[in-house]
Amino acid sequence: MEMKRTILITGTSTGIGHAAAELFASRGWNVLAGSRHPQELHCNHPAIQPLALDPNDTSSVNRCFADPRVRDLDCIVNNAGFGLLLPFEDTPPEEIDRLFQTNVFGLMEVTRRAARVMRQRGEGTIINISSVLGRIGAPFYAAYCSTKFAVEGFSEAIAHELRPFNVHVKIVEPSGTRTEFHHRAYDTDRCHVSGVYHSRYEAKKIAHARGGGGYDSAESIAAIIFRAATDGSWRLRYPAPETAKISLGRRILGDEGLWKVMCKRMGSM
Ligand SMILES: NC(=O)c1ccc[n+]([C@@H]2O[C@H](COP(=O)([O-])OP(=O)(O)OC[C@H]3O[C@@H](n4cnc5c(N)ncnc54)[C@H](OP(=O)(O)O)[C@@H]3O)[C@@H](O)[C@H]2O)c1
Repeated sequence: MEMKRTILITGTSTGIGHAAAELFASRGWNVLAGSRHPQELHCNHPAIQPLALDPNDTSSVNRCFADPRVRDLDCIVNNAGFGLLLPFEDTPPEEIDRLFQTNVFGLMEVTRRAARVMRQRGEGTIINISSVLGRIGAPFYAAYCSTKFAVEGFSEAIAHELRPFNVHVKIVEPSGTRTEFHHRAYDTDRCHVSGVYHSRYEAKKIAHARGGGGYDSAESIAAIIFRAATDGSWRLRYPAPETAKISLGRRILGDEGLWKVMCKRMGSM
């Protein structure tokens, strides 16, 4: 009989992480649903086991990896993350710290522990959730883009390090997805937006709110994560369809050609 595989997903209370937890459980995996608020998780599938995990807190990460259920880890999805839409000039340094803490440093610490478990077991898959904004810069997302570019470079580097140990590292790159992400990223009323940026900033917020209907569903990104976890390949990047278009544009137009198109699309020229 085939052994049940075990996956740990970070940030499962909403959005992509939540959808991924449901999908893997429905496909017969043991799902450890990491969350800062495990007691508040609303999971439909009975096989989903909530697990306290705050990637921002080293002692929480230590406690999580001391849990015997994590010993047999086949796959980890570093999904927890958030965005912040603000002109860079107005982005307080402490907000940049918070973004890097969760999206980069927390992800790195969880990866370090997972890599150790998987290397010792002689197999495993680490999936890091990046973004289309890990491939291109977008106005008013400078701090967030920096975190996702960091995730891309980090993941590519460790993919080389871990391959000899039969540990796969994969990057999933969602583009706009209908989740809590946008409400959280646009929740900037507490922050000052300088007058010189105001009209472009507000236009961007409105355009995003309108464009939201065309976004992918969290379930469709979960399906991409599932493919990355199960295809057995050494493929590195798994873009959502819109992210794939950016990569195709870069191949066809070259870096500078794509940059020109993006300047037009982002309204910066
Ligand atoms: N939605 C998009 O358009 C989009 C596009 C590209 C990439 N992404 C990426 O996809 C991943 C999942 O986001 P999502 O769209 O599913 O958004 P979401 O609905 O806001 O879910 C993100 C989850 O991450 C955890 N989280 C949020 N803020 C956190 C913080 N400050 N510290 C620690 N954990 C935090 C939360 O889980 P717990 O409360 O359970 O801990 C939350 O449920 C993120 O890495 C995001 O950057 C999203």
